[in-house]
Amino acid sequence: MANESAVPTAEDTARNIGPVILLGPPGAGKGTQARRIVERYGVPQISTGDLLRDHVGRCTELGLQAKAIMARGELVPDELMYGIVACRLREADCRRGFVLDGFPRTAAQAGWLDAFLEKEVFDKSEKCPPVVIQLLVDYNQLLLRIAGRRSCPTCGRLYNIHSQPPLVDELCDVEGSKLVVREDDREEVVSERLATYERQTKPVADYYRLQRRLVAINADRPMEDVTAQIFGVIDSHCPGGMPVAAPRG
Ligand code: AP5
Repeated sequence: MANESAVPTAEDTARNIGPVILLGPPGAGKGTQARRIVERYGVPQISTGDLLRDHVGRCTELGLQAKAIMARGELVPDELMYGIVACRLREADCRRGFVLDGFPRTAAQAGWLDAFLEKEVFDKSEKCPPVVIQLLVDYNQLLLRIAGRRSCPTCGRLYNIHSQPPLVDELCDVEGSKLVVREDDREEVVSERLATYERQTKPVADYYRLQRRLVAINADRPMEDVTAQIFGVIDSHCPGGMPVAAPRG
């Protein structure tokens, strides 16, 4: 039943939205906006950066291979990415859609994803084609956002000392944990991450643009404004589309 208060809950707005791909350089706001999509549409966020950091933290074989590569600001080889992404996308909570944050990051990954989605994941009758949203942000703004980013080591909540500070300096509003700076947010690594984006991830935008599947938005705006643009794109991509029926196993 619809929520009668002014603010819609995920229950009101949850529906089949298919895959949403957020494309953008480090610091563009992919993670921030992915969480808002999760809240509104009730689909999972799949952040390959978070998945990799989890592997690094648990010292798995993949984590051990990825650790030094990530610390240098380079990309983990495509072949290592396919396994973890395929595994996650096959989980039942992805059936109505999901938001990919940080994948694909090379043209080869984009081709792989298309082939994977074609073969697997969705029940064809409920299929909604992927929508690719590119977040455009000025270079200097990216540097400022990354330098100001803090996160909670307990719940992963994101903050920014400039644009989204915690209520109490350096402490998570929810957990009270001391906020941390991400390992690869050091200045020398950030410039390599941004260069890697230009070199290897920009072609992904070209890949989708050529197929007329790319929607570029101005993400150099306050967070709420960016969120409104993204919801507008998703809503018009899958209009009124396919409200959620009873949960499926
Ligand atoms: P990953 O974790 O994906 O990092 P990234 O792409 O560099 O992106 P970030 O997390 O830095 O930024 P974001 O766009 O999510 O911005 P955020 O919302 O946090 O990848 C890390 C590493 O893993 C890679 O370098 C690579 O080694 C490896 N990897 C991952 N995926 C891979 C793949 N597919 N293939 C190979 N290797 C892979 O926002 C940033 C800050 O800005 C926050 O503080 C936020 O509060 C603030 N902010 C957000 N929006 C706004 C706004 N509108 N106005 C003001 N401030 C804002």
